[in-house]
Amino acid sequence: MSQPKVLIAFYSRSGVTEALAKAIAEGAREAGAEVRMRRAREVVGPEVMAQAPGWAEQAAALNARYEAPTPEDAEWADAIVFGTPTRFGSVTSELKAYIDSLGGLWAQGKLNGKAGSVFGSTSTLHGGNESTLLSLYNPMAHLGLIIVPTGYADASLFKAGTPYGASSVSFNQATPPTDDDLAVARFQGKRVTEVARALRGVAAVSA
Ligand SMILES: Cc1cc2nc3c(=O)[nH]c(=O)nc-3n(C[C@H](O)[C@H](O)[C@H](O)COP(=O)(O)O)c2cc1C
Repeated sequence: MSQPKVLIAFYSRSGVTEALAKAIAEGAREAGAEVRMRRAREVVGPEVMAQAPGWAEQAAALNARYEAPTPEDAEWADAIVFGTPTRFGSVTSELKAYIDSLGGLWAQGKLNGKAGSVFGSTSTLHGGNESTLLSLYNPMAHLGLIIVPTGYADASLFKAGTPYGASSVSFNQATPPTDDDLAVARFQGKRVTEVARALRGVAAVSA
C-alpha cells in the first residue's frame, strides 16, 4: 500500500507556527507519510505590509522555503493539516483565503472522507489558541473532512498543546515552541497519518 499523503498548509509570519509545522511533518514522516509543506501567501498589498516592520522581509524568507498551497495539493492529500497564528482570536485571513480557494473541490465532494487537523500559536497565554483552532473546525466540517483532534491521546498532551491541536505561546514572537509543544506537534503528525491510513477508501465507499 502506498504511503499516506499529508498536506501541511499553514500561514506563519515570524516562524513560530512554521516550527510547529516542521514538527508535525517530522511526526507524519516517522509514521510513514509523504508530506507536502505549503505556506499560504499574503492577501494584503505592500503598503499594508510596510506598516509592520519586518513583515515583507519575513514573508520573502518563508516564501523562498515553501511553495504556496494550491487546490491540487488538497486533492492530492489523504490528510490536510491547517496551521495558523491567531489574529484577534481567530484564523489569519491568509490561511482562510486558501481554505476559500477549495470551494471548487467542495462542490465536487472531492475532500469528503479525508482526515483534517489543526494547529496554531498565539502571543499570550489566553490569547485565543483554543478559539482559533475551534474556529477552523467549522470549515473542516463543511469540507467533509474527518476531524482528527489531539485529545489527551498521548502523554505529551498533559504538558502542552490543546485537545484540539498543537499550540504554542510565543510571548510576542520572543519564545519559539518549547520541547513540550513540539512533542505534541510530532504526536499530531503521527496521529493524523495513522487516521489517514485507516480512512483510505472511506470517501469512495460512501460516495
Ligand atoms: C494583527 C495581529 C493580531 C494578533 N492577534 C492576537 C491575538 O488575538 N491573541 C494573541 O495572543 N496573539 C495575537 N497575535 C500574535 C500572533 O498570533 C503570535 O505572535 C504568533 O505566535 C505569531 O506566529 P508566527 O510567528 O507563526 O507568525 C496577533 C498578531 C497580529 C499581527
